[in-house]
Amino acid sequence: MKAELMVKDLHVNVGDKEILRGVNLTVRQGEIHALMGPNGSGKSTLAYTLMGHPSYVVTSGDILLDGESILRLGPDERARKGLFLAFQYPTAIPEGSLGNFLRTAVSAVRGYKERAQASGNGDATIGSELMPMREFRKELTEKMALLEMDPSFARRYLNDGFSGGEKKRAEILQMAMLEPRIAILDETDSGLDIDALRVVADGVNRLVGPEMGTLIITHYQRLLNYIKPHFVHVQLAGRIVLSGGPELALELEAKGYDWVREQFGEPMMADS
Ligand SMILES: Nc1ncnc2c1ncn2[C@@H]1O[C@H](COP(=O)(O)OP(=O)(O)O)[C@@H](O)[C@H]1O
Ligand SMILES: [Mg+2]
Repeated sequence: MKAELMVKDLHVNVGDKEILRGVNLTVRQGEIHALMGPNGSGKSTLAYTLMGHPSYVVTSGDILLDGESILRLGPDERARKGLFLAFQYPTAIPEGSLGNFLRTAVSAVRGYKERAQASGNGDATIGSELMPMREFRKELTEKMALLEMDPSFARRYLNDGFSGGEKKRAEILQMAMLEPRIAILDETDSGLDIDALRVVADGVNRLVGPEMGTLIITHYQRLLNYIKPHFVHVQLAGRIVLSGGPELALELEAKGYDWVREQFGEPMMADS
């Protein structure tokens, strides 16, 4: 069965402020969706909520994966069901190489820890909760070749200070290794340079296919010069107000967001 992520009339509060005010969206395996919209429209809020960040409180509506609500699942359980949001485990490995970080992440998502604990092997031997090194190495080498990445990159240390482009490369490699069914990429960084954009686009283009669906969040139409989405959605003030095909992104590039605001923005409150 094709994975299907369905967001239904989702309302989300951050603190006591309602940020998402009824989002509807369906992403299926094999589809590329772009979510666009001006700054502050709640795009990142949607991404965090999809992954189960505890600060984002769902007040009504639902998030379904393959028809089942995932609202009560934590981020790690959502990841094991095939959802991906870049750097879900940023604090798990404060130091160590990118390769080690990836091995831990892949092992967690594929349930090595549970299996080790079930067999009573849990915390006894170092490495018992991890994917066997030989298998991991083989797969890492294959994925890096697919992405045309230099094998030495995986030996870099996470706390070395990666450049913007390298961070993106690490994120894409993580996505390749975790093999998500639905990947959510929030391109929040306003300083994202053209190199970093290319890394993201190239990685997505190589990884996307019948096995992976993608939701790419960006307010840069530029990114969509490199990735051709099947569907484009525009979010405004916590709602998706407009959906269309790739031509919608071109229209936004040409005309900006003002016409969307005029057409779909809140009407001015009349004095009463
Ligand atoms: N952790 C937070 N605490 C308080 N306000 C937040 C938080 N996260 C987001 N917001 C507010 O939610 C709104 C939407 O933000 P965000 O989801 O980051 O929008 P976008 O990604 O579209 O730029 C903004 O008004 C922002 O100030
Ligand atoms: Mg954002």
